[in-house]
Amino acid sequence: QFKPIRVPDIVGRKGGRKIVMLTAYDFTMATLLDSHADILLVGDTLGCVVQGHDTTLKVTLEQMIYHAGMVSRGARQALVVVDLPFGTYQQGPPQALQAALRLLKESDVSAVKLEGGGRVCDSVRAISAAGIPVVAHLGLTPQSFHVLGGNKVQARESQAAAQLLRDARALEEAGAFALVLEAIPGELAGEVSRCIGIPTIGIGAGPDCDGQVLVINDMVGFNAGPAPMRFNKEFGAVREVIDQAATAFAREVRAGTFPARENTYEAAIPSGVAAG
Ligand code: KIV
Ligand code: NA
Repeated sequence: QFKPIRVPDIVGRKGGRKIVMLTAYDFTMATLLDSHADILLVGDTLGCVVQGHDTTLKVTLEQMIYHAGMVSRGARQALVVVDLPFGTYQQGPPQALQAALRLLKESDVSAVKLEGGGRVCDSVRAISAAGIPVVAHLGLTPQSFHVLGGNKVQARESQAAAQLLRDARALEEAGAFALVLEAIPGELAGEVSRCIGIPTIGIGAGPDCDGQVLVINDMVGFNAGPAPMRFNKEFGAVREVIDQAATAFAREVRAGTFPARENTYEAAIPSGVAAG
């Protein structure tokens, strides 16, 4: 029943049963999602949805280790993958390998993810050669926010599409075991999925990927920030649920009806004795 999902299980799902991936940032959420998701991603989107920054750029390795530990403790079944945050692999393979090693040694994750194409292939190779499974990420790569000029759909023109396809092949060749495709035309994602042997996991990349991922806060409608991109679908209304609960709590506290008797402890000794 609690057979943990491992990297080869994910690789074996290529072209088969769809891979379900969600982000998670803490223990409680991980316990809730564990039986539903094949992969829990400790995404650096925590910089936005947990920390309140506009981009993922300020997230540190120490913060990722902290969150990865919490998620790992809540996941018995799902494979836990963690993002290498911005600045921890851009210097090249030695830095990338060092960051990946720290993530695996200081939390209980099974794999790491990093963003980019050709320029990170040597790092993907170094990390996977060290025995650490790597997920790659192409298309809208939020750590390149300033170069891309914001969070926009990518690879809509044929040159960029061809480049993305080359990058996907290069990342597979470098040893990545799965590829996240973010905010690219559905047709291109389908083409990439057919052209490489590793599973693709889409977010805003149409239905023809081998799996799908959404940011948990966006997926359940628990998002204070600006509306997520149109690829998101709110499958729940968690903000409303919490807002209603907080409204009711405040009302009862102010009315003096909470806590009631059943929420209040009584002394073991008669009150007269306690008072005297
Ligand atoms: O950080 C993140 O949540 C991600 C997913 C959107 C794929 O990278
Ligand atoms: Na990310």
